[in-house]
Amino acid sequence: MVSAVSFSRGETALFYSRIAGTGSYLPENVVTNQDLEKFVETSDEWIRSRTGIRERRKAADGETTGDLAFHAATRAMEAAGVEASELDLIVLGTTTPDIIFPSTACLLQHRLGANGCAAFDVNAACSGFVYALGVANAFIASGQARKALVVGSETLTRMLDWNDRSTCVLFGDGAGAVVLEASNEPGIYTTKLHADGGYKHLLFNPVGVSAGFRDGEPNHGIRVMMTGNEVFKVAVKTLDRIVGETLEAAGMDESQVDWLIPHQANLRIIEATAKRLKLPMDRVIVTVDRHGNTSSGSVPLALDEAVRSGKVQRGQTLLLEAFGGGFTWASALLRY
Ligand code: UT7
Repeated sequence: MVSAVSFSRGETALFYSRIAGTGSYLPENVVTNQDLEKFVETSDEWIRSRTGIRERRKAADGETTGDLAFHAATRAMEAAGVEASELDLIVLGTTTPDIIFPSTACLLQHRLGANGCAAFDVNAACSGFVYALGVANAFIASGQARKALVVGSETLTRMLDWNDRSTCVLFGDGAGAVVLEASNEPGIYTTKLHADGGYKHLLFNPVGVSAGFRDGEPNHGIRVMMTGNEVFKVAVKTLDRIVGETLEAAGMDESQVDWLIPHQANLRIIEATAKRLKLPMDRVIVTVDRHGNTSSGSVPLALDEAVRSGKVQRGQTLLLEAFGGGFTWASALLRY
């Protein structure tokens, strides 16, 4: 374990980070659209046509964000051939931490046996993993870490109001992870992170420690609240902008992108971004049909599936993007 990396005279500085391995984990329990039809006024037809979702996973009672993160992280470290003792940094994107503190990253660090390295959570809602990737990339590029574990993990179903059909049909639980390591060449060409807190009212959970806790209300008032159609419009426009900005920053164009790995909130949003990039849908990784929206888990879950299925190959160029509550939005362009 190296808690900070300093370069001695004559040692080559490694300014890029590359993905050394990926992993993911989904809880076993599958909830289909038909299951939801039984207790909320909705239909399989509505959910599929408006979102592309057919089913999602739900964590078992007692199964936590940290549990999902642990399985995803273990798989990513196995794939990378990296031991816990080699990690300098763990950054974990989540909006559903196990407990308020210590961070889920610290709980994960101890469970992995990586004690001593830097470990913290990033809460950027659905952009959490891409934010975490940007942060870890900056640590590696500045020489403060050589090997980093980056995780996106969520148990969003825990904070849903199961009587609210406008949100409860959309979300699922899951986790994904990557191991990043310092490299002489890209790896990650660029990451872009943005936020605009002025949009809080369109997608939020009104309850925290310092505000909003309501005695006597179901789940103390904890719930996802979303004005879906307004979020939809801003998401499409914003993702359109950020993919252009990302390619420009790397001096690349659409034709150089092999795979789009988007946040999996809604198939119609994904299709709009693919159209903007002039990418046919067979070069876009889609998991929303089987995972629903797993927030921070969605991009690394899609990436790991694409790697393990053999779709994404070493040397290919990947564009990752996400959009979520805050609003936050983020992207990463990288050579896998
Ligand atoms: O990951 C973070 C970012 N989040 C997103 O990107 C989500 C963005 N938004 C969306 O994906 C879509 O806006 C939704 C899937 C959430 C909603 O689709 P929409 O086409 O924008 O529908 P809408 O909200 O405009 O609602 C249309 C109708 C309404 O009924 P009326 O007013 O037309 O009579 C809703 O009450 O659909 C109704 N509705 C439903 N009907 C059946 C809303 N939810 C449901 C439901 N089943 N589950």
